[in-house]
Amino acid sequence: MASSPISDQPSSPPAPAAPSAQPAPLTAEEQQALGALPASHWAQQPLGDDTFDDGASSIGSFTSTTASLSSSIYNYRTVHGRTYHGEVGNAESWQPNDERHVEAMEIFHHAMLVQLDGKLHLSPLDKKKVQKVLDVGTGSGLWAIDFADEYPNAEVIGTDVSPIQPTWVPPNVKFEIDDCNQEWTFNENSFDFIHMRMLVGVVTDWNELFLNAFRCCKPGGYVESIGASISFQSDDGSIKKESALGQWGIVMGEGGKKMGRPFTVYEDDLQRKGMEAAGFVDIQYEDIQCPMGVWHPEKKAAERGLWYKLAIEADLDGYVNYILNLVMGWTPDETKVYAAHAKKEWNNPKNHGYFMLRVAWGRKPE
Ligand SMILES: C[S@@+](CC[C@H](N)C(=O)[O-])C[C@H]1O[C@@H](n2cnc3c(N)ncnc32)[C@H](O)[C@@H]1O
Repeated sequence: MASSPISDQPSSPPAPAAPSAQPAPLTAEEQQALGALPASHWAQQPLGDDTFDDGASSIGSFTSTTASLSSSIYNYRTVHGRTYHGEVGNAESWQPNDERHVEAMEIFHHAMLVQLDGKLHLSPLDKKKVQKVLDVGTGSGLWAIDFADEYPNAEVIGTDVSPIQPTWVPPNVKFEIDDCNQEWTFNENSFDFIHMRMLVGVVTDWNELFLNAFRCCKPGGYVESIGASISFQSDDGSIKKESALGQWGIVMGEGGKKMGRPFTVYEDDLQRKGMEAAGFVDIQYEDIQCPMGVWHPEKKAAERGLWYKLAIEADLDGYVNYILNLVMGWTPDETKVYAAHAKKEWNNPKNHGYFMLRVAWGRKPE
């Protein structure tokens, strides 16, 4: 679909659209085949009142142009008290677009900066040559804003299905509403750099996404994708399969499959495969182990773990609300109790969990 600059927000927000009908929960056979515990399991597990010392203390403006988009983009959908994007094609976004979740995204942006030692990308960009940059699924917009600050001569466009980006931004940034799963309408050979971070559970067809990126990338330009695994692991067995964190990848993975937007981007190597199939060359990637919480004995890793913990803690309910309630058919209570267990496990320093992150980049041949 055509991307649309965003006009000023209407003064009174329209009534939210009704959520879709509740889907059927998985049958007992389906659960068994997946290794998933039933949703009702979580209510039977005592949460206890023990608290842990987690050890943390130790360490473009929206273009108000003539072409204004219909106010329906502000017609948010409400699911159990959280809001989600409005009508943009047939896009379906599992992440809330309310203040609480945007704050979690902002903390995640900081976590990524800490993780990559302050770098906004790993692609070998030539600062003097970068003129036009696209950030797909920009979320809070902070990456696009930071990039624009660092590259003042580049024009940066951030796209998303939700108009949640700030209005006070450097003059060389603008945000547009665009569904990345539709054919891109940006000009061919127009971007020096296309950045896509954390589009897990967002993209319907990763090959198609990279084909679009290939077409719109200038010869010699780069595409970069950062994706995280949703399966939480541990090397010492502290994350058990039947724990809330051990189940996370199973239920979210199934939810992504049902939604037609896979979460298994890392597991299925979708970034590298998609770049290769589209024609990008010199594809490289870095796989990074991201500790969950501050358990790691190395100070730097513990600091990274703290930021990931803060990002997830800022809105753990927001990460599971849509998928468990609306896609997997859990009740709101089952979802809440599961989220409480997951939060408690993130905070338990005896759990030495981590997830994998892949930064992949490739160049369009000249
Ligand atoms: C996990 S957030 C990542 C945000 C940002 N890239 C970052 O790393 O901070 C995923 C973003 O994708 C957006 N999104 C969901 N479906 C989309 C679609 N079909 N097209 C474009 N953006 C989409 C969501 O609104 C959300 O802001």
